[in-house]
Amino acid sequence: MKMKTITHHYVRMEQMNHHGSLYSGVLTDWMTEAAFFGAVQVLGRRDNMVMCAVQDFRFIAPAELGSVICFQYELVKTGRTSLTIAVNAHNMLNPEVPYAACEVVFVNTDENGKSAPHGISM
Ligand SMILES: CC(C)(COP(=O)(O)OP(=O)(O)OC[C@H]1O[C@@H](n2cnc3c(N)ncnc32)[C@H](O)[C@@H]1OP(=O)(O)O)[C@@H](O)C(=O)NCCC(=O)NCCS
Repeated sequence: MKMKTITHHYVRMEQMNHHGSLYSGVLTDWMTEAAFFGAVQVLGRRDNMVMCAVQDFRFIAPAELGSVICFQYELVKTGRTSLTIAVNAHNMLNPEVPYAACEVVFVNTDENGKSAPHGISM
């Protein structure tokens, strides 16, 4: 599976930090949301799936006010109950400007919230 565009965000004034760039907490929120959208697309459902871990989060370059950020995802690993989604963020108009990258692990659950096989393979 290749990286697929899943969502975009526009950097607004109220999301800036005291350095004059996008606040890291906002970008973290957008990255994990994009990973969730990716997991929903892979599984074909939204329920009985929880975020378990965020790995190797890297802030690569600061994002400026007014930037349109493109978020892409890729399924990089499947286990018995978990799946790992890689996410990256880059400037929509200038794709060679990467802002951030991470991997997010989701776990499929049963009705009681316990890990359960998802039946997905790569
Ligand atoms: C996610 C959760 C169900 C996992 O429970 P658990 O008892 O650790 O479950 P298991 O030991 O059976 O592990 C389940 C899978 O998670 C993986 N896993 C557990 N901890 C991990 C970690 N820190 N990093 C990466 N993978 C991890 C295991 O390798 C296993 O994968 P596999 O079955 O594909 O091999 C449980 O920790 C939980 O409910 N966490 C809260 C989730 C939450 O509220 N998220 C925020 C809202 S969505």
